[in-house]
Amino acid sequence: MDIVNKIIVATLPAIPKSIVRKFASPYIAGETLDDAVRVVRNLNGQGMLATLDLLGEDIHERPEAHQSRDQILEIFDAIHREHLDANVSVKLSQLGLKLDRQFCLETAASIVGRARQLGNFVRIDMEDSSCTDDTIWVYRQLRKEYPNVGIVLQGYLKRTQADSDALIREGLKNFRLCKGIYIEPAEIAFKEHDAINKNYIAVLDSMLNQKAYVGIATHDDELVRAGYRLVKEHGLKSSEYEFQMLLGVRPELRARILRDGHRLRVYVPFGKHWYRYSIRRFKENPQVAGNVLKALFSHN
Ligand code: FDA
Repeated sequence: MDIVNKIIVATLPAIPKSIVRKFASPYIAGETLDDAVRVVRNLNGQGMLATLDLLGEDIHERPEAHQSRDQILEIFDAIHREHLDANVSVKLSQLGLKLDRQFCLETAASIVGRARQLGNFVRIDMEDSSCTDDTIWVYRQLRKEYPNVGIVLQGYLKRTQADSDALIREGLKNFRLCKGIYIEPAEIAFKEHDAINKNYIAVLDSMLNQKAYVGIATHDDELVRAGYRLVKEHGLKSSEYEFQMLLGVRPELRARILRDGHRLRVYVPFGKHWYRYSIRRFKENPQVAGNVLKALFSHN
């Protein structure tokens, strides 16, 4: 990130929320479940699948985890009622992972159980490296009882190849593979674009080689090209993998992937806690953040 972008990112917290909201709008479906349903119906109408994400991360008390659980159960009911082609992504910190992993497991199990009753699926998002072991632990426990749950692994972590191999050996073969969004130390994570991409491609190749179902989650042309090449080399049908992208990011790439005959799932975040998610997206792409600043000044 160059110095101008660093300054832009550092200035973000000082920007009025109403302006951040304006620039965040392509990336979030809205504040309510009804907003999210509308966006998913529209994506489905264009031939895309969706995964819904109720925004909101760390919680501090158990009742907050139960609140998140109840809201997530409502999402599954809405998907069922509205006949949407969508599943749900959850962050375990929202369900109490940092309070007590056993408690989190029980909360997550009620969600995965309900999803199973409705013929649906839960994707466990991966958070920062302080959560990796416990997230994988919860996933393993859930899979003892439920087939309808998968996990996310991050291409930037040096441990990911080993985690992927270990899970696949146990028969746990449903992944989303992304680069990883959190800032991690160089001892545990690749930091350079080329090194991250190299590891991502190696892990993807080995997952597909071992017949895992992979959500290839990226907006990076190089990784999309590698995805095309690898699914071809492994002789996969279009039902045996999918591409995944975030709402609002590179719609032209989304259209191309669909046109080329691949399944594409869009990650649709919504909810009252949109602010932190938006700041994270802006930090990833300071050009967008730069527009927020321009808007600020043009309003003066
Ligand atoms: P890269 O960052 O190199 O971006 C490639 C290009 O895409 C950029 O040059 C730019 O043009 C465009 N682009 C990327 N981000 C943009 C943005 N915000 N706005 C506008 N343009 C943008 N991470 C994690 O740690 N845990 C998780 O569970 C998930 N889950 C997840 C689900 C899905 C469906 C996706 C697509 C991504 C995630 N991520 C994630 C985020 C992921 O780890 C990563 O940070 C982003 O996808 C950015 O990496 P890319 O592979 O897109 O490449």
